[in-house]
Amino acid sequence: MKIINIQGQSGNSQILINESLENLTKYVPPRRPVIVTDHNVNRCYRSYFPGWDIIEIGTGEEIKTLKTVEGIYQQLVDLEIDRSCFIVGIGGGIVCDITGFAASTYMRGLPFGFVSSTLLSQVDASVGGKNGVNFHGYKNMVGVFNQPCFVICDTEMLKTLPRNELICGFAEVVKHAAIGNRELFTFLEQRYTDALNLDQPVMERLVYDSILVKSSIVEQDEREKGERRKLNFGHTLAHALEKTTDISHGEAVSIGMVFAANLSVLRHLLSKEEANRLRLLLKQLQLPTEIETNISKEKVKDAIRKDKKREGQGIHLALLKAIGEVIVEEIPLEELEALIDDMYMHW
Ligand SMILES: NC(=O)c1ccc[n+]([C@@H]2O[C@H](COP(=O)([O-])OP(=O)(O)OC[C@H]3O[C@@H](n4cnc5c(N)ncnc54)[C@H](O)[C@@H]3O)[C@@H](O)[C@H]2O)c1
Ligand SMILES: [Zn+2]
Repeated sequence: MKIINIQGQSGNSQILINESLENLTKYVPPRRPVIVTDHNVNRCYRSYFPGWDIIEIGTGEEIKTLKTVEGIYQQLVDLEIDRSCFIVGIGGGIVCDITGFAASTYMRGLPFGFVSSTLLSQVDASVGGKNGVNFHGYKNMVGVFNQPCFVICDTEMLKTLPRNELICGFAEVVKHAAIGNRELFTFLEQRYTDALNLDQPVMERLVYDSILVKSSIVEQDEREKGERRKLNFGHTLAHALEKTTDISHGEAVSIGMVFAANLSVLRHLLSKEEANRLRLLLKQLQLPTEIETNISKEKVKDAIRKDKKREGQGIHLALLKAIGEVIVEEIPLEELEALIDDMYMHW
C-alpha cells in the first residue's frame, strides 16, 4: 500500500493506494457511519461492507442530479443521521461526486470518505476536492470544494469493472503521464499488456504516479485559474465530442489528446515522434485516436465555440512541449477550427 497526503484549502485528505475495501473500518472515525453506494457496486461488494446502514442510488450520468441528492437527504433524516455521524461513498466518480456533495451540505456538512471503485475515479475524481451534480443538463453545475477525509483506491475492485469503463480510465492515466511524468509514460509503453490484465503492482504504480501528477497541480491551484488548466489536456475537443455524440468520456479524451498533440506539433512545440508515441500508446491501450467521420464537423466546431472555458476569440489549451511537459497557450478559434477541418480530411 502507498499513501499520499493532500493538503487542500478545505482540509486534508489521505489517499490510500491498494488498501483493501475490507480494511475500511480502520479509517472511519468512531462515529456512526452510513454508506452511499450505487446499485452495481452494492450487488458486487455488499458482502464486504461492514454492517452499517446503506443508501443505494441508481447508476448513470442521468442520476447525478439534485433529485438524487434530495433522496439521500430524506434517507439520512429517516435514519436520524446527525452531525456526529460519518458518510462513506463507495463507487465510481458518480457515487463520489454525489456523496461528497450530499455530505458537505446535509446539516451544513458531515465528514466523509470514499472508496473509489473505478479506474477513472481512482486517478481523477478522488483528488481535487470537487463534489457536485449536474443541473438541467449542465455538467457539474452545482457543487462545492471539500476534501474527503480519506480515499481508498482498491485496485482489486477493478477486476469486476466492465472492460470499457477500465479502458476509459486508462485515458486519464495517459493524460497524467503525458502532462507530468515522462517515466510513467515510458513505463506504460513497456507494460501496457500487464496494465490491461490488471497486474496489481503495475496498477499500483499507475494509480500512485497518476494521482501524484494531479495532486501536485491541484495543490498549486485548487480553484482552477491557471495551473489547473494543464489537467484539461485533451479535454476541449473531448467535451465537444461528448456533446455531439454518445462517445464515452475516456474515448473522447483519447481523441482530444491526439488533437492537442497534433496542434502542439503544428506550433513547433512538440516533435512528430513524440506525438506518434502518444498516438501509439493510446492505440495499444485500445483507445480510439481518430474522430469518426460520421460525426458532424459543424456540430463539433459549434460545441467548441460554446465551450464554457472560452474567453473572447481564443481558448486556453493545454499543449505538449515534450512527453511529460505541458504548457497552456491561448489559441485563436480559427486555428482550432482549421485543425478540425484538417482532422476530417487527413487523419
Ligand atoms: N470530482 C472530480 O474531480 C471528477 C473528476 C473526473 C470525473 N468526475 C465525474 O466522475 C463521473 C464518472 O465516473 P466513473 O467513470 O467512475 O463512472 P461511474 O461512477 O458511472 O461508474 C461506471 C460504472 O461502473 C460501475 N462500477 C463502479 N465500480 C465498479 C466495480 N468495481 N465493479 C463493477 N462495476 C462498477 C458503476 O455502477 C457504473 O455503472 C462523471 O460524472 C464525472 O463528472 C469527477
Ligand atoms: Zn477527464
